[in-house]
Amino acid sequence: MDPKILAIESSCDETSASVISNGKVLNNVIASQSVHHKYGGVVPELASRAHQKNIVHIINETLTSSGINKTELDAIAFTKGPGLLGALLVGVSFAKSMALALNIPLIEVNHMQAHVLSHFIEEPKPEFPFLCLTVSGGHTQIVLVRDYLNLTVIGETHDDAVGEAFDKAAKIMGLPYPGGPMIDKLAKEGNPDAFQFPVTSMPSLDFSFSGIKTAFLYFIRDEVAKNPLFIESRKNDICASIQKHLVNMLLDKLEKASNQTNIKQIAIAGGVSANSGLRDGLRKKGEQLGWTTFIPDFQYCTDNAAMVAIVAHYKYKKEIFSNLSVSPMARMPLDVK
Ligand code: KG4
Ligand code: ZN
Repeated sequence: MDPKILAIESSCDETSASVISNGKVLNNVIASQSVHHKYGGVVPELASRAHQKNIVHIINETLTSSGINKTELDAIAFTKGPGLLGALLVGVSFAKSMALALNIPLIEVNHMQAHVLSHFIEEPKPEFPFLCLTVSGGHTQIVLVRDYLNLTVIGETHDDAVGEAFDKAAKIMGLPYPGGPMIDKLAKEGNPDAFQFPVTSMPSLDFSFSGIKTAFLYFIRDEVAKNPLFIESRKNDICASIQKHLVNMLLDKLEKASNQTNIKQIAIAGGVSANSGLRDGLRKKGEQLGWTTFIPDFQYCTDNAAMVAIVAHYKYKKEIFSNLSVSPMARMPLDVK
């Protein structure tokens, strides 16, 4: 049996599709939406409209470049949640219609599980069990992964996600959206020890980023009151310092999670795993502590359908299918066993 599955991702501002054949991802076509840039963040209504505009040609392009005819497909997979409801609806409706028209099974996928399983798109692949720090614009989680479909969240944020903290810090500095990659870029030319921020930490494996967001806001406000040109003159140092602070918050918790579980296979996933400070920091910590680390290729850090296709492949093997009454979920826990 060589299952061929078409996977669709539309949870936020990327319309993406991918074909997987017998567990091998054949392609990963992505249309990013630039319409949000001038608004300083993703506008949900505009995201849904852009998905509607993009989806037909993205699916056609994906099928054509995979060399697989739609009549050869064995299943259609889609992101059910979490994400923006209107954006998810576009992918869900398209997937349902296509599964119905082709009379093949429908497979729902949790977006956060897909980020974790992005490590199975290409070599090197982690062995079970491993820990995955999943860091995106909406989530910050430490996940204990016992098998492809057996994931347990052992730590998560109580308020903002770390991606939001990056984006808000950038906004406070007046940097253009999306802020995370901008901070990363400016940080490369800065001194990460130029400024210190208060260190706060939850006692468990959980995170909180609301305190640092407020501390950063007051820090900038006070410095700008003393010197109106502060941001402009110290832009690189500010970015390098806040990036180091946020990355350390993540790595400290990962170390704690590794000690508690005695697991030394450590992965990162999600949009913020594209951050060079986090990637370098994880590599260094891994060398110090004897971890085997897994850092995704840049194209698989941010939202993409290849990671959705991987989850779909393992669900297909276990015949875990959805029926046509399935609807998207804006909030969706990662309680997959
Ligand atoms: O996983 P993702 O593409 O979408 C969500 O599911 O949220 O993650 C988007 C988040 C945004 O907050 C963005 O600023 C952040 O990932 N991000 C980064 C970098 N690239 C993307 N944050 C810091 N450094 C980066 N290089
Ligand atoms: Zn994501």
